[in-house]
Amino acid sequence: MTNTAIVTGASSGIGADIARELARRQWHVVLVARRADRLDELATSLRAQYKVNTHVLPADLTDETQRRDVIRLSAAWAEAQGHRLTALVNNAGTGVWNEFADQDEHTLLRDIELNVTAVTSLTHAFTRLALRQGGPAHVLNIASLAGLLPAPRFAVYSATKSYLISFTEVLAQELQGTAVSVTCACPGGVQTEFLALAGQKQISNIGMMRPQEVARLVVNAMLARKVIYVPGLLNKLSALARHLPSAMRTRLVGKSMALTVSKA
Ligand SMILES: NC(=O)c1ccc[n+]([C@@H]2O[C@H](COP(=O)([O-])OP(=O)(O)OC[C@H]3O[C@@H](n4cnc5c(N)ncnc54)[C@H](OP(=O)(O)O)[C@@H]3O)[C@@H](O)[C@H]2O)c1
Repeated sequence: MTNTAIVTGASSGIGADIARELARRQWHVVLVARRADRLDELATSLRAQYKVNTHVLPADLTDETQRRDVIRLSAAWAEAQGHRLTALVNNAGTGVWNEFADQDEHTLLRDIELNVTAVTSLTHAFTRLALRQGGPAHVLNIASLAGLLPAPRFAVYSATKSYLISFTEVLAQELQGTAVSVTCACPGGVQTEFLALAGQKQISNIGMMRPQEVARLVVNAMLARKVIYVPGLLNKLSALARHLPSAMRTRLVGKSMALTVSKA
């Protein structure tokens, strides 16, 4: 049986590179996001370059109806190919960088729906399936350094990523002794479309990582069954600031972010 992974948010950035990294390791992939044309393009290139099977599942994961069948349809596709669904990568995520009171409520609630509710729902369905089918399986949640170090102007985004860290820590405990692992990766700044979509303009490369590098590191962490993983030495050192008093820590995070990004 060959491995198959579902990768959400595979139409760009870190998700597209996680799909590439898994395909390079001969995993078959189910690609999920809203932009079907981008997913089709990636699927074609992975089939040609790595000779793996690919399945494109366009879905808006903030829509309960559209996300309801993602795990079931992916498992059925994998089984029809003679594979087993062995990983769920919860990578799709959004956030807007602005003062909370100036943000649009609908957008904030949509971010929570994608970053928290969709991840919870997909992980629930996948974990039940993985425990039922037996054998090794992995969940990889892409949080953020902002989940460990809440960032000014990212109140809701940081809180959604803190949820993923807390959720992963407890789920990992519950799954101890089973063949199912859960990992939460906390990248710092990564050069993707996320920055512009969040309303940020990159002003320097300090601490910024490339999505290809992040993808390679987080896939390694998932396969090594790490629970919380921070990619990159500078990010690992920055994460130590979580032990500081919260007001001091938030000021420091704001100052260090100002070295890298400004408002778009
Ligand atoms: N870039 C950074 O600095 C950074 C740092 C730390 C953590 N992260 C996290 O890394 C993850 C990936 O972000 P990225 O940097 O690769 O950004 P990105 O290039 O903007 O990718 C975001 C992905 O999420 C998908 N997505 C957005 N809304 C969706 C929805 N409603 N339904 C389904 N898919 C949706 C997008 O696809 P469609 O638009 O086609 O739906 C896209 O594939 C996110 O969880 C982000 O929070 C990013």
